[in-house]
Amino acid sequence: MEKLVIFDSLTGNTKMLADKIYNFYKQKGESIKIIDVKKEDEEEIIKLVNKTDIIFAGSWTDKGDCSDRMKSIYEKILNKKIFVFATCGFGGDKTYYSKLLERVKKHIDKSNQIIGSFYCQGKMPNSTKERYISLIKANPEDKNLKVSLENFENALKHPNNNDLIELEKQLIKSVDIN
Ligand SMILES: Cc1cc2nc3c(=O)[nH]c(=O)nc-3n(C[C@H](O)[C@H](O)[C@H](O)COP(=O)(O)O)c2cc1C
Repeated sequence: MEKLVIFDSLTGNTKMLADKIYNFYKQKGESIKIIDVKKEDEEEIIKLVNKTDIIFAGSWTDKGDCSDRMKSIYEKILNKKIFVFATCGFGGDKTYYSKLLERVKKHIDKSNQIIGSFYCQGKMPNSTKERYISLIKANPEDKNLKVSLENFENALKHPNNNDLIELEKQLIKSVDIN
C-alpha cells in the first residue's frame, strides 16, 4: 500500500514524529513519501494524496486545533485511511489529547477512515516562559500560571525517545492491521 506523510511543523517537534513514521516504513522497504506542507504547493499535495492509500497527517497545535495549512489539507482528503498525529505544548493528559483530536476530526470528511492517532507534548519557545514569568510577577496568587510554567518545563523534554517508541506502537496497532 502506498503511504504518504504530510506534516506542518514550525519548530521541529512535529517533524520529529513525521520523520519517525517515514523511517519506520522506509526501513521495512515500504513505498512511502514525506511532504512538508510549507515546501509544496497544496494542489500538488492533493494530487499525491489521491494516488495514496494511507495518509499520515500531522500538525503542531495552534489555539486548540491543527494549523490552518493542515486544516485546509484535511478538508480536501476524501476516501482515504488517515492516521492523525500532532504535538502540543500542554499535555501529559490524555483527555486534553482527545479534545484536540475531536477538533481535528471536524475537518476530516466522513468518507475517510481514521485508523489511528498519536499526540504528545512538544517543547515551546523561551518567549512563552518569559511571558509566564512576567504574568506571575503581576499576578503572584494565580496558581494556574504556576501550573503553566511547570508544564512549560515538562514540555522541554518532548518529543523524546519514549514518545517515539509510543508512536511506533500506535503505528503497529492501528496501521499494520488495516
Ligand atoms: C501561536 C501558537 C499557538 C499555540 N497554541 C497551542 C494550544 O492551543 N495548545 C497547545 O497545547 N499548544 C499550543 N502551542 C504549542 C505548540 O503546538 C507546540 O509547542 C508544538 O509542539 C510545536 O510544534 P512544532 O515544533 O512542530 O512547530 C502553540 C504554539 C504557538 C506558537
